[in-house]
Amino acid sequence: MDILVKSGSVLEDESELAILAVCEETSLPEAIAGLIDANDFGGKLKKTLLLYPGNTVPPRRVLLIGMGKPDKVNAETLREIAAVAIKEARGLQADAFNFGLNEEPGFTPEKIGQVLAEGFEMGAYRYLHYKTELKDEEKFSIENVTIYCSNEEQTSQGAAVGQIIGRSVSFARDLVNGPSCKVTPAFLGEEAEALGKRQGLKVTVLGPDELIKQGFGGIMAVGGASANEPRFIAMEYGKPADNKPTICLVGKGITFDSGGLNIKPANSMEMMKSDMGGSATVFGAMQAIAELKLPLHVVGIVSAAENMPGSRAYRPGDIVKTLSGKTVEILNTDAEGRVILSDGLYYAQHYKPDAIIEFSTLTGAMIVALGPHASGVMATDQSLADRLIAAGQESGEKIWQLPLWDEYKEMIKSEIADIKNLGDKAGAAGSITAGAFLAAFVGDYPFAHVDIAGTGWLDKSNKSYQEKGGQGVGVRLIIEMLRNYEQ
Ligand code: BES
Ligand code: ZN
Ligand code: ZN
Repeated sequence: MDILVKSGSVLEDESELAILAVCEETSLPEAIAGLIDANDFGGKLKKTLLLYPGNTVPPRRVLLIGMGKPDKVNAETLREIAAVAIKEARGLQADAFNFGLNEEPGFTPEKIGQVLAEGFEMGAYRYLHYKTELKDEEKFSIENVTIYCSNEEQTSQGAAVGQIIGRSVSFARDLVNGPSCKVTPAFLGEEAEALGKRQGLKVTVLGPDELIKQGFGGIMAVGGASANEPRFIAMEYGKPADNKPTICLVGKGITFDSGGLNIKPANSMEMMKSDMGGSATVFGAMQAIAELKLPLHVVGIVSAAENMPGSRAYRPGDIVKTLSGKTVEILNTDAEGRVILSDGLYYAQHYKPDAIIEFSTLTGAMIVALGPHASGVMATDQSLADRLIAAGQESGEKIWQLPLWDEYKEMIKSEIADIKNLGDKAGAAGSITAGAFLAAFVGDYPFAHVDIAGTGWLDKSNKSYQEKGGQGVGVRLIIEMLRNYEQ
């Protein structure tokens, strides 16, 4: 899809379809006000009305979309409206449309362009790769959107940024939606190499022989039972430099989580192809960081494994020696994410990073706590947590902080090893004890863990730019944070 930007009013130019977003309590442009009764269209959020204006204005069709109360309009409203526009246009079989805001909200033209482009790209997303027979509306896609605005130059700069972000979200969504028979650890390794070629990243992929040799005991313990062998992946953007912060992004890449010997019940297994959602965030983020040419040194790290039962599977009661040298008592093989991440997080320390930010679908307890509306963050450094929370507000990907107090660290002490992979047997503070476990592997580097178990995969869409399935969550968040990153 091409997104163009033009100065002026969307009603001025000829087109098959002009879409105009309108707030409640504001008057419509004169040319079309006469065509409808004010009561027909109140401007309520996401309400639509299609007009055939005849000769009153150049466009053949005009679609009004409500934006709700003017004082409530924010960046999220625009993302949602943009996605509604895409879906409505598709329903009208228009492969191109012009889009305008009746009144531009009070943020910068760049931001308007950015969030509209994000909404167009995310709203256009569908996962249809495996359908061999497509319905007419599935075959149909939007080729061209032109945004009409007051400041062409700035809006268009923003739109270019938003399009990069939106496409990176789609890239991450594709990885999450891909079935585990395709998206294996080896596949993620190949994706990393392909991404590295496309974007000029330095990519390292390690397979089982190297992992054993170099002591990646956490990844090997979890991934050792599967015919789909584990991988460790590092993707480096830029180089270390005095004036450039070094950021490590770490992702959980469990390409299927059966639970292992502590096998999951049948009805909670099918969505476990999405247990590599954290790694998808890292892939999407690395693509966007490189395309946006951010002035940073960023390393994307992924621990990838398939968690399966079998005669080679790690067992409850095993003690695993991780890359850090620390030993882990395994009390539940389904708490595997933290075990593979311990190696990835320890490895991150090699880069002496200014911050380590890790994404994982780590705990069911996170879904209980926050549901699908926010990810949880736990951090060893409050200013890092604050940056993420602020970026969450701006990007529309909300996050909520949970504490990492010393009391929780007590809960994962083992009597026979350095640490255990399970806190309280009944699950008390399940998300926090998992976070505390991860924090034991980052040394003194500022660290934040983002648990996306509730947000990485949705059984139903809550916003118009979402579809059921993989969300590519965290890409917008991390890019928002890194675009504003100053030491
Ligand atoms: N991948 C799961 C967490 C999860 C559950 C993500 C549901 C998304 C949806 C993780 O590996 C897991 O199984 N965690 C266990 C930990 C427990 C055994 C301590 C959980 O949350 O039940
Ligand atoms: Zn698990
Ligand atoms: Zn898992």
